[in-house]
Amino acid sequence: MTDITLPEGYSPGLEGVIASLSAISKVDPQGDELIYYGYKVSQLCEQSNFEEVSYLLLYAALPTAEKLADFKRKLIAERNVDKKILDTLCTMPENAHYMDILRSGVSLMAHFDPQCEDNSREAEIAKSIRLIAKMPTLLAARIRTLKGEKSVAPNSKLGHAANFLYMVDGKEPDPDFSKALDTSLICYAEHGLNASTFAARVAASTLADMHGCITGAVATLKGPLHGGANEHAMHMLIDIGEASRAQSYIKEKLAQKAKIMGFGHRVYKKKDSRAPILKELSWKMGKKLNNTKWNEISDVVEKTMMDEKKLFPNVDFPAAALYYLLGFPIEVDTPLFVVARMSGWCAHVMEQRIGNRILRPESFYTGPEPRDYVPIASRGA
Ligand SMILES: CC(C)(COP(=O)(O)OP(=O)(O)OC[C@H]1O[C@@H](n2cnc3c(N)ncnc32)[C@H](O)[C@@H]1OP(=O)(O)O)[C@@H](O)C(=O)NCCC(=O)NCCS
Repeated sequence: MTDITLPEGYSPGLEGVIASLSAISKVDPQGDELIYYGYKVSQLCEQSNFEEVSYLLLYAALPTAEKLADFKRKLIAERNVDKKILDTLCTMPENAHYMDILRSGVSLMAHFDPQCEDNSREAEIAKSIRLIAKMPTLLAARIRTLKGEKSVAPNSKLGHAANFLYMVDGKEPDPDFSKALDTSLICYAEHGLNASTFAARVAASTLADMHGCITGAVATLKGPLHGGANEHAMHMLIDIGEASRAQSYIKEKLAQKAKIMGFGHRVYKKKDSRAPILKELSWKMGKKLNNTKWNEISDVVEKTMMDEKKLFPNVDFPAAALYYLLGFPIEVDTPLFVVARMSGWCAHVMEQRIGNRILRPESFYTGPEPRDYVPIASRGA
């Protein structure tokens, strides 16, 4: 590959390539602030909730009180997952990756969705609501199965985040825990044309059904360079073990040219505005639980990365300690990202349908020139 003249316009990793028009979100270059339909995520975290943000992403506007109440009712009504799906997923091997379980779960849900083949806007809104509502139920059931416990039915009195904690633990959660989870779901709900959203839009551009688009998105999110970073970040914090070891650990990893998970970003250049929100929550949770060890290690890692590489934490880094403190098994970090991002993915699938043109880029051929087929007997050793 070294003596190849690269074609003009080729951008490795598609960096800087504009592959679609989107009104859904943007990283505002003024202060690297993420906005959903113009609303600052930091304000949404302070004043809104995940259900309202999901409404905003699906309908492109904030709801009235009446519309929000109706949307919440619909979400609650769609929380149950068909028993056949739960039974199938819960009998999968114990070592099956959570993300694979969720990917299969979305795929299986397609067979049970009465509007699977209907790509009209009305049907896609209904399917989006079902997907958003059912993911926590599916994930909670799998968490409990692996603990050898029976799944817990959704609690219609609780909001999206609180109900998820309820289905995991079987008891009403501490409101601070629910609020922390809810805020993280808002932070993770949407992020432009990231890899998994792009995957969903590529599938949507072929007019594939919503569940197919989302199945591809879940598969793409699993990768450690995308969603998997939060899990890897937590494993690293555990590996470091104590704050006094953090600086030397990171320096050693960097000397080995290792990537430190939860740092750097393709889009943000100065900071990821979601990271300080989750960092503050994580510290709050650490203090509440009288266990600030992970926060202290995280702070040293963050400082060392800034000193050594001028790299800032992205949303996945503080999410790692936060989710650990909330008591989730580490393997659930990326699945929680799925629970949140479902709203953003569904919004993008619907947006792609508008004025759609199939996404079909080109590759630059680097293989041999045309040549004659060599019969097997003439190929030598
Ligand atoms: C997010 C990420 C994939 C962006 O990738 P990208 O835009 O292609 O950036 P690159 O991987 O080309 O990185 C540019 C430079 O910064 C370095 N770098 C970027 N992120 C790094 C990290 N987390 N740790 C150490 N070095 C890093 C690269 O090694 C590279 O250095 P070089 O020019 O000396 O080779 C990348 O920063 C990364 O792999 N981060 C860790 C995974 C992660 O946290 N993902 C979640 C994203 S929300």
